[in-house]
Amino acid sequence: TRVAILISGGGSNMVALAQSMTGDHPARPVLVLSNDPAAKGLERAAAMGIATAAVDHRDFKGDRAAFEAALLEPLQRAEPDVVCLAGFMRILTPEFIRRFEGRMLNIHPSLLPNYPGLHTHQRALDAGDTEAGCTVHEVTAELDAGPLLGQARVPVLPGDDAETLAARVLVQEHRLYPAVLRRFVEGERAPLIL
Ligand code: GRF
Repeated sequence: TRVAILISGGGSNMVALAQSMTGDHPARPVLVLSNDPAAKGLERAAAMGIATAAVDHRDFKGDRAAFEAALLEPLQRAEPDVVCLAGFMRILTPEFIRRFEGRMLNIHPSLLPNYPGLHTHQRALDAGDTEAGCTVHEVTAELDAGPLLGQARVPVLPGDDAETLAARVLVQEHRLYPAVLRRFVEGERAPLIL
């Protein structure tokens, strides 16, 4: 199974996914693609021997369709069976998503359906939540709302700020995403609750 991973920044989730696709794992990473040519994750992917590409969304000044058409070039050339969004920070149009419906995954740093969108940790803290976590879901046209594939929880601790909570959740993201991807590739759709 050919897996393409879309990133926007450091790519720590991409590294965790790529490192999990070895040995008897039925999938292999075939492309790491970013909307930012300066994304540190591109260097990390190249160091792991994974093909990389970048399409700078700033070159398309708000013309989302043109940006996505450019993004599709390297992506389709890689002929992925599964596309993983991992720290990918651009909203994709329903037209783009439709091309990968049922085989596009995303990881979101909250216990969906709580806190779709941005600043999830600060919002959980502001709400006085005692638990937080991350969710892997299938990507559909509605933002952060597709079928649930997995969740991992962490405690919110006294004295936490968005940074300390994000760091605790990120550790779980790196456990959850690889585990969910392997199950997904093996045809399992029941949610994995870590
Ligand atoms: C992190 O905030 C993570 O919670 C979210 O995307 C951001 C960057 O992740 N999934 P990564 O290190 O680029 O994978």
